[in-house]
Amino acid sequence: MIQFDTPRGAYPVTRMRRMRRDDFSRRLMRETVLTPDDLIWPIFVLEGKGQREAVPSMPGVERLSIDLLVEAAREAQRLGIPAMALFPVIPMEAKSLDAREAYNPDGLAQRAVRAIKNAVPELGIITDVALDPFTTHGQDGLIDDAGYVLNDETVDVLVRQAISHAEAGADIVAPSDMMDGRIGAIRAALEAAGHIHTRILAYSAKYASSYYGPFRDAVGSAANLGSGNKYTYQMDPANAEESIHEVALDLAEGADMVMIKPGMPYLDIVRRVKDQFGVPTCVYHVSGEYAMLKAASQNGWLNEKAVVLEAMISMKRAGADAILTYYAPYVARWLAE
Ligand code: PBG
Repeated sequence: MIQFDTPRGAYPVTRMRRMRRDDFSRRLMRETVLTPDDLIWPIFVLEGKGQREAVPSMPGVERLSIDLLVEAAREAQRLGIPAMALFPVIPMEAKSLDAREAYNPDGLAQRAVRAIKNAVPELGIITDVALDPFTTHGQDGLIDDAGYVLNDETVDVLVRQAISHAEAGADIVAPSDMMDGRIGAIRAALEAAGHIHTRILAYSAKYASSYYGPFRDAVGSAANLGSGNKYTYQMDPANAEESIHEVALDLAEGADMVMIKPGMPYLDIVRRVKDQFGVPTCVYHVSGEYAMLKAASQNGWLNEKAVVLEAMISMKRAGADAILTYYAPYVARWLAE
């Protein structure tokens, strides 16, 4: 027999539905709000002029040459999106085993930063600090003869890359490589070079996720990586405690913000990190998450606007202060409607 708190047939004392009945009271008790201020727009940059390429596994996302990227930056500014994150698509002939193109002062990322800061100086620019677009094998670092990604040798290159981004005018450098000690090394080098205002967004809890597939297509590292994987440096999806350890280290080394990546499958990590540390916490709604929602929407199986806004509010509710999402311009437009 089911036991009821109130005798059968008596009235419920608390009717949760009273507050849900009307729009005004639903609005009054709404705990989480989403605004364009919460968004970071990740965008792929190409060589050339007037170049615009679709990414097949991410319908609606394009790789843009710098001149068109500047137009997108103006659009971000108009939409009230605070920041953009740049991901360069490096031509095969510029890739190498030592990834030296990563710190070329006139490299694609560095030129893109200068062009945007010149045209739209108020827009925050975030650069990706990692070597995968620049290595012939698609790993995020330098490798030894056995293919193992070398830690300290890679950190030396990441430092040079981060400094070249700061010199180009990047507001935030975002190491997404998962080498040990890179935040401390980059922070020390930035300070020594006088870049005391350059913020570090540390990809602290970055999981070895299969949701990155479309991104690797977009930057062209998928073919290079082949059947390789990133298990020796990115985190095991089975682990949660380890994310706390990672975040603690990155904060101790001088990170200003931390990132959890991917987003929706890792909301438990977002909540734990936010509760434990209370620091600016970002979450990356990654390429595979975009692709899933886009594909289902294009098939008419999900209502795109409704489901994307729900995904966004879920990440905020979990504790994220900012969300990197390929849906950023869509979301900003929907919020303005
Ligand atoms: C690599 C990098 C990746 C992403 C951002 N930076 C892919 C990877 O680690 O292989 C993935 C982003 C996405 O899937 O949207 N440094």
